[in-house]
Amino acid sequence: MASPISSIAQILANPLLGNDACKLTLESQERYLLLIKLINAHNHRYHVLDNPIIPDSDYDKLFRQLLDLEDNVPELLSIESPSQRVGGSALVQFSSVTHKLAMLSLDNAFNDTELFAFDSRLNDRLTQSNTALAYCCEPKLDGLAVSITYIDGFLDTAATRGDGSQGENITANVKTINSVPLKLQGENFPHRVEVRGEVYLSHNGFKKMNDVALKNGDKAFVNPRNAAAGSLRQLDPKMTAARPLIFSAYGIGYIEQQHPNNDQNVYLTETHSQSMRQLADWGFVINAEIKSVLNINEAIAYCHDLTHRRSELTYDIDGVVIKVDKYSLQQELGFVSRAPRWAIAYKFPAEEASTTIHAIEWQVGRTGALTPVAKLAPVFVGGVTVSNATLHNVDEITRLDVRVDDTVIIQRAGDVIPKIINVVHALRPLTSTLPELPNACPECGSKVARVTGEAVIRCTAGNNCSAQLKESIKHFVSRKALDVDGFGDKIIDQLVDHKLIFSAADLYVLSKQQLAGLDRLAEKSAENLLSALEASKKTTLARFIYSLGTREVGQATAKSLAQNFRSLNALLDTVVKISLDDKPSAIEVLTNINDIGPIVAENIYSFYNNPQNRELINRLQTAGISWENHSADEQKTQTLSGQTWVLTGTLSTMNRDQVKEILESLGAKVAGSVSKNTDCLIAGAAAGAKRAKAESLGIKIVDETAFIERFIE
Ligand code: IVH
Repeated sequence: MASPISSIAQILANPLLGNDACKLTLESQERYLLLIKLINAHNHRYHVLDNPIIPDSDYDKLFRQLLDLEDNVPELLSIESPSQRVGGSALVQFSSVTHKLAMLSLDNAFNDTELFAFDSRLNDRLTQSNTALAYCCEPKLDGLAVSITYIDGFLDTAATRGDGSQGENITANVKTINSVPLKLQGENFPHRVEVRGEVYLSHNGFKKMNDVALKNGDKAFVNPRNAAAGSLRQLDPKMTAARPLIFSAYGIGYIEQQHPNNDQNVYLTETHSQSMRQLADWGFVINAEIKSVLNINEAIAYCHDLTHRRSELTYDIDGVVIKVDKYSLQQELGFVSRAPRWAIAYKFPAEEASTTIHAIEWQVGRTGALTPVAKLAPVFVGGVTVSNATLHNVDEITRLDVRVDDTVIIQRAGDVIPKIINVVHALRPLTSTLPELPNACPECGSKVARVTGEAVIRCTAGNNCSAQLKESIKHFVSRKALDVDGFGDKIIDQLVDHKLIFSAADLYVLSKQQLAGLDRLAEKSAENLLSALEASKKTTLARFIYSLGTREVGQATAKSLAQNFRSLNALLDTVVKISLDDKPSAIEVLTNINDIGPIVAENIYSFYNNPQNRELINRLQTAGISWENHSADEQKTQTLSGQTWVLTGTLSTMNRDQVKEILESLGAKVAGSVSKNTDCLIAGAAAGAKRAKAESLGIKIVDETAFIERFIE
């Protein structure tokens, strides 16, 4: 049999001609059915399996042939044709549909105790078994519930949930959703069946939709759920067709096995999870996170796991739905008012909450930047109590128009640092005060400076400011820098406060007595700290450059500098200049290095031209810090030679080009998509389809930290 690709190539190369192109002939019928079959199959691969195998342009050409044929030979038109997804004219209003089986809502649980209580309630009620209840756990998709009725396998009606017993007829709109089969696949389906699920937008789809809205001068939607709701309720199906909606099936409603009406509402399988597989076989999208578990403990573990991974998903969810898996038990448990007893929604902690600001303080960072921090009335949000939120800089204060005593909305999504997303100006009290911009450093009282055009205010005292000194030493000893074990924040704060150290170099002249004299530090711990300092002296040039804490020189830039100059002397020779006239040439050399732009180059230039910093470098080297220099002609080991790597998601410390450069320098090829030939996937935050595909192919996945640890340090 010819492969689908070669037959598509043949179809595209051989359009129908003559009578066959405009009359009902055997040829035109055959071609029409073949086009329907191919387009539907590739549509399913693209929208349901997320695994397209033909280019979009080929798909578009097939579609064009189909539309031309339908135009020229209207007798051919079939309801199975993908062209029938967008059809009909705009409605004046939606008609109403009565659900043959009510669309219920779910009871909520907000913590583990409530989930245990749910499980024991069910066990107490059930007479059938005394073994643990098995559940099916699913993400609670944050979209809109839709029920789609299929009669003899063909999509007949689609309706919103409405009040649970009556909804709106949105058939024309639902038909435009590519992941909704117009005809069920296979043969094994009942005469009439309601498929229930959620219509939603992925983050990407939402972004695309809003980009279009903004380009057309329309208002952007606030969140994917509202955008999905707005799209489904368009009276003109052509509008809905333009929105990238997804339908994910999560259950089966009313069933009628045969015509005439007998065997009503029998179950097709023994368990809900088997039904999910049935739905996938019929051609529906089934969420990839759905998991059967053996008992409530496993269900709770699933809830915790998904809570942590929520921010990595490519769509919004607001909890987990836990369903008793066995239908016979569901039936025995029944319903209370509007919700089944056999299911519960575990709701994630709210990610937004309101609170008030009682002060705005300025915190001094390693590079002297003063960051405004809002001191909040403690508020429980995203599962933790939050009492501080950064305001980033002066521009952010202006943008939010925030004052002390204001009521604000705090957001804490996933493990991300809490932030103020909104000020409720309507609740501003008369007592509210504008935050004062500092005219001196709050830590050391030195002058502050703000470069025109920049949002950042800085303390000008450098390491003479104790706050800056503490932060720069914390950076120096950190794991990614010189990795001096045991030097926690409290120890460094004391060393600076007791005036035992004035720079990182002073760490190497500390005595055992000085260390043992610190709060809660026994003699043995002091000895350990001294050995850690000793061990840190053997390092790499990249780590050394990074540890110095030049503004905006992160691990990757430090690595680039080390690779380019190969020795500290070479770096100093290029960058340190006697006269200002030499500066442009130094900046030019630096900006020629991959990923060093003019601003970072300027930072590097001023750092190494500052005599205090050069003295620090000298003292550190005198203390014995050393590394092996690499000569220019030394062959780099091509440890990844012959391998293919793929990058996905957002990386926090490096950009893609930097990672690509490193991989290529190690001999790897960097590809754009995951296939069975991929050796490894680097998955940053919010990795989606590529990660899922790599998982399904059993391909090794590493996160950013693991990558840095293995190849950059
Ligand atoms: S099952 C009788 N499963 O949550 C059980 N619902 O409050 C009916 N939802 O409006 C629902 N994801 O649209 C179920 N995996 C899932 C779901 C889910 C989202 C929505 C559903 C309904 C609401 C229930």
